[in-house]
Amino acid sequence: MLGVLKPAEGGLRSVGVFFLEFMKCPAAVGSICLSGATLANRLLEGVSREEDGLVIDLGAGLGPVSAHMMRSGIAKDRIIAIEVNGVFKELFAARCPGVRLVIADARELKAILDREAPGRKISAIVSSLPIRVLGSQLTENILQQVKSVLRERGGVLIQYSYALWLNYPLQDYGLAPGSASIVWKNLPPARVESYRVWNKRTTKLIAMSAK
Ligand SMILES: C[S@@+](CC[C@H](N)C(=O)[O-])C[C@H]1O[C@@H](n2cnc3c(N)ncnc32)[C@H](O)[C@@H]1O
Repeated sequence: MLGVLKPAEGGLRSVGVFFLEFMKCPAAVGSICLSGATLANRLLEGVSREEDGLVIDLGAGLGPVSAHMMRSGIAKDRIIAIEVNGVFKELFAARCPGVRLVIADARELKAILDREAPGRKISAIVSSLPIRVLGSQLTENILQQVKSVLRERGGVLIQYSYALWLNYPLQDYGLAPGSASIVWKNLPPARVESYRVWNKRTTKLIAMSAK
C-alpha cells in the first residue's frame, strides 16, 4: 500500500487540521498532507537504534515522523520534537504519547537543546522543514543553528524536500553532502538527503569520491 495512505491513521481530524494550517500559511507548513510511512521509514534508515544520541524531529507537525521513530525502536527519551505551530500540540500528543514536544522556532535550536538536553550527543536531526520556501534569511538562520549543534554534539542532518531535481542545495549553506535517494511512494514523492558539517574527514571523503 502506498505510504501516502498512512497519514489518515491519526484520523480525519489530523488530515483536516493539517490542511487548514497549510491553507493559512502554505510556505511555513510546506505540504498539504502528513508524511507517509514509507518516507518516515527512509528518513530513519541510517539512524542507529542502539546508540543513545538524540534524534531531533525538526518541524514535527502532527508527529508522523516521531511516531515512526517510536515504532521503529528508537527510545522515547532520545526523541525531541520541535514544532513552531502550537495548533498541532494536542494531536501530536495523541499520536506520540510520552514524546517530548517543544513548541518553538527552529531558529532557537541551540538554546532549546541546551535547555532540554544539556551536553547530550546527537545521532540525527531529521528535518521536515520546508527549507526551500521559508525564505533565504530564515533558512540561513536555521542552518547556522543546525551547523552549530552538529559541530558541538556530533550527528547528521537528514532533510527531505519535494524538489526532486535539486541536488544537495544545502551545500550552499556550508553543509557537506552524504547520501541521497528518492521516495516515490509518498504524496508528493520526496528526495531524502543527508548532510554533515564540514571537517577534515568529510573534505577528504568528498575529494576522494570526486576522483
Ligand atoms: C512539511 S511539514 C512536515 C510535518 C511533519 N513532520 C510531517 O512530516 O508530516 C513542515 C512543518 O515544519 C513546521 N515549521 C515551519 N517553520 C518552522 C520553524 N521555523 N520552526 C519549527 N517548525 C517549523 C511547520 O509548522 C510544519 O509543521
